[in-house]
Amino acid sequence: MKLVFATHNNNKLEEVKQLLPAHIELLSLTDIGCTEEIKETGSTLEENAYIKARYVKTHYSLNCFADDSGLEIDALDGAPGVISARYAGPQKDNEANIQKVWGNLKNHTDKSAQFRTVIAVCIDETEWDCEGVVRGALIDEKRGEGGFGYDPIFIPQGYAQTFAQLGSDVKNKISHRAKATQLFLSRLKEIID
Ligand code: IMP
Repeated sequence: MKLVFATHNNNKLEEVKQLLPAHIELLSLTDIGCTEEIKETGSTLEENAYIKARYVKTHYSLNCFADDSGLEIDALDGAPGVISARYAGPQKDNEANIQKVWGNLKNHTDKSAQFRTVIAVCIDETEWDCEGVVRGALIDEKRGEGGFGYDPIFIPQGYAQTFAQLGSDVKNKISHRAKATQLFLSRLKEIID
């Protein structure tokens, strides 16, 4: 069975490939010749994940899944959420995004936040989605060199270091993305076995 992961990111692709049964041929957007930019115009992570998965199903007639992730800050009613990458503008500047988080959190004592990933799946005639969440707290300085995005300012619950300090070995076990992927894979195996 061919299954498309609606991403151009080879790291994400390889990570999932390792976890899939051998009879599933996992393909990226590049593999299927999809070079057009799929516009993420949704107002939620769910909408954006479905936009990408449905785009591939409709235009390429291939089974597909897609993910979308974001940082959701309690005191900011879940912002930046779906616009996490573009919080401080379309240039997708990590440093500017972090500065904006700090600015908006300045007058709040509650620094709790979570990362959330939604995976939307379109297989044959069925659609479903699953999510992964990691709770934690934001700090007002950057710690650590690893990771990306908001990792240097996010300390996951139960840990004393940021995602950027913990490194990929730990992060890949406890992250929102890891949890959503595990749920997706266990449900997928139930369906195809
Ligand atoms: P994506 O949907 O995985 O591309 O994530 C969208 C945006 O959310 C990223 O560009 C980051 O700003 C933020 N984000 C998502 N996951 C993470 C993470 O694991 N660490 C830090 N930032 C993240």
